[in-house]
Amino acid sequence: MQIQEDFDLRHFNTFHVSAHARYFVEVSTILELSTALDFQKTHDLPFILIGQGSNLLFKEDYPGLIIELNIRGIKKLGETRERIHVKASCGENWHEFVQYCLQKEYFGLENLSLIPGTVGAAPVQNIGAYGVELSDFLHELEAIRISDGQLRTFSRDECELSYRHSVFKGELRDQYIITSVTLALLKKPQLKLTYPALNTALQDYAEQEITAQLVSDVVCQIRRSKLPDPLTLGNAGSFFRNPVVSQDIADSLKAQYPDIPIYPYEGACKIAAAWLIDQAGWKGYREGDVGVHKDHALVLVNYGNARGEELFDLSQRIQQSVQEKFGIELEPEVRII
Ligand code: EPU
Repeated sequence: MQIQEDFDLRHFNTFHVSAHARYFVEVSTILELSTALDFQKTHDLPFILIGQGSNLLFKEDYPGLIIELNIRGIKKLGETRERIHVKASCGENWHEFVQYCLQKEYFGLENLSLIPGTVGAAPVQNIGAYGVELSDFLHELEAIRISDGQLRTFSRDECELSYRHSVFKGELRDQYIITSVTLALLKKPQLKLTYPALNTALQDYAEQEITAQLVSDVVCQIRRSKLPDPLTLGNAGSFFRNPVVSQDIADSLKAQYPDIPIYPYEGACKIAAAWLIDQAGWKGYREGDVGVHKDHALVLVNYGNARGEELFDLSQRIQQSVQEKFGIELEPEVRII
């Protein structure tokens, strides 16, 4: 473990923006993590934890310590009649973990294939895609309390998971570090195929048996066709959350814009932010090296050497124009630092 100074973060965020951290360290054990936290306390530094930097935007240089969590390991714990409990350390790559589970015939995560990022980051924003959310399979997780280094187990309920949210983004924000996640996966597949884009894509395979691996492959295909690969084009997936509004607001928008995609969500209505941004005329917009992806209006991109500040500025202009056109406030999904 080596603490590095004045560290360029370009390769540690999927937007590939160049920002400098005063200090940077990669940790691969809990002991190294404790040592890094001691350094942070002794030097009285602000600090942040990152996984693979796939959901954040560095708006400017960071004056403190950045800790990259690279703690690895996957192990099968017990099993019940229907479920298998699998524990994965926080630094495992999410998609590789999903593929590992499929190979072992632990089912349930197939719709969550190809989501960028790490296992430890997954519960923080309750990752979700194609009709499945992490909350459907989370059993419990372990986390270290930053103030005193105590390890605590959180049950699924204690994580307070909801749409792109958890207690770790709310009340306990910046207080715990998730070190491992235990999922209760299925021994027999129970495929969820109702999400429209997935359902449509699977019609091409009507002759074949629909297996969990096929669902995973098709989800990968859809994601690859819509969402740019961060390795070739800097981006952080959906930049904004889909706004959740009351039924009354949804009804009045629907009356004005009959095509607006609205989905029921926990007694309220979720609106497709991509549609709002698209209708406000931003899809495919480019200015210098920043832009809005041509195939998906919710994805902001760095075409080369964009600065974080430019991406942030573009996101604010998008927010403002959606607010003016539809009266809806978009909230960033990515973490802005
Ligand atoms: N749409 C447009 N214009 C566009 C793109 C989409 O009008 O440029 C419309 C589509 O017609 C569709 C609707 O917007 O009716 C929704 O689009 P999509 O199915 O692509 O889903 P999304 O709501 O934009 C969410 C997640 C994604 C996840 C997909 C699939 C959020 C913020 N995003 O996107 O997650 O992959 O559903 O389940 O909830 C991420 O979080 O980074 C992410 C990529």
